[in-house]
Amino acid sequence: MRKIVALPGDGIGKTVLPESIKVLEAVGFQAEYINGDIGWDFWCKEGNALPQRTIDLLKEHKIGLFGAITSKPKDAADKELDPSLQGKGYTYFSPIVGLRQKFNLDICIRPCQSFKGNPLNFIRYGAGNTIEEPVVNAVIFRQNTEGLYSGVEWTNPPKVVRDAFETHPKMKSFSHVPNEELAISTRIVTKKASERIIRAAFEYAKSFGYKNVTICEKPNVLRETSGMMFKIGKQIAKEYPDIQLWDTNIDAQMMWLTKNPEIYGVIVAENMFGDIISDGFAGLIGGLGFACSANIGEEVAVFEPTHGSAPKYQELNPSIVNPIAMILSACMMLDHIGEKEKADNIKNAIAKVIEEGKVKTYDMMKLKGGPDVFKQGACTTQEMTEAIIAEL
Ligand code: NAI
Ligand code: MG
Repeated sequence: MRKIVALPGDGIGKTVLPESIKVLEAVGFQAEYINGDIGWDFWCKEGNALPQRTIDLLKEHKIGLFGAITSKPKDAADKELDPSLQGKGYTYFSPIVGLRQKFNLDICIRPCQSFKGNPLNFIRYGAGNTIEEPVVNAVIFRQNTEGLYSGVEWTNPPKVVRDAFETHPKMKSFSHVPNEELAISTRIVTKKASERIIRAAFEYAKSFGYKNVTICEKPNVLRETSGMMFKIGKQIAKEYPDIQLWDTNIDAQMMWLTKNPEIYGVIVAENMFGDIISDGFAGLIGGLGFACSANIGEEVAVFEPTHGSAPKYQELNPSIVNPIAMILSACMMLDHIGEKEKADNIKNAIAKVIEEGKVKTYDMMKLKGGPDVFKQGACTTQEMTEAIIAEL
């Protein structure tokens, strides 16, 4: 039987992950779920939020279904570490960032698809003051490992670095700046990673019937890095004559976000730009309760909702949070391993529940979260899952 590494993590990650497994079981997906230790508890107890045994599990089974983790600032991290481990040189790092680096999960996919009848859908005025609710179906491919988030940066850079920068003619405008007053973050783009993500985007468009792939960059200013991505995009597009290659600039894309989001299919961008556009599009389709994602590397893939551990709601019993983002992430896992029909069945069941409009989590009712939401008609996390399973 197929084995899936289940990584609940912290807070509401522990709540929503089991809900998604219930739905996977209800759709007839046969798998064994092996629990992987990850998150704050393991930082506190062991000084490592991503223990080696969890890395080994993923190495062996390749597919991870992940809830969410809690990260806290350095001081809190040091204070909550088990007293027997304090002062022994342990430093906290985010285990999801750790997973992305460890397994080079360089392709991040974030579908943003509106469900008919979701009260959180974006609406706008059309001609003659009609109200339009555009059908958003954009899938953002965000390069997950390099770009402006590659982490190569300095404040008060070492002399060799400064000297190297000074060889660039444009550094003249900064040559008077004292070294201690200089901060540099680099934007690193490689041909290999760009080819991988752009090809993955075209393959996805081909498999799922999207008619266009947009490279969303800024090649007029970032001539080298965006320029390289765009050039590679043009080359790869030649292999996919049925799919149009579009290009937009990140700033204009955000301006058009609400003007014509319905025309975009697959969108590819570097790490930071992808981070920005995917949050922008997620806002049009219901926000964190609906935003799912996949992190895909050459061998390992990890599927997760984009929301965090929502600590303010983790103690509520019954739970109020929306399990749909997690369940949609499980659908992405099914798509990835060739179980598209089961994924479609689940998505159709979610669509029906939303369209019927009887069962809504607090976020879908635009309520302030808290134990009172049930009195106002919101459903529990488990009731949402049950409604989806009933439709299946
Ligand atoms: P968050 O995503 O946990 O929550 C922000 C707010 O969004 C919540 O208070 C709630 O109002 C709403 N929300 C989130 N998920 C929801 C759901 N499923 N249904 C309904 N409403 C939902 O982000 P926050 O509060 O900034 O961070 C909390 C913790 O999560 C931090 O420790 C942070 O480091 C961590 N985090 C982890 C991520 C991950 O595991 N991938 C991603 C983002 C944050
Ligand atoms: Mg973000």
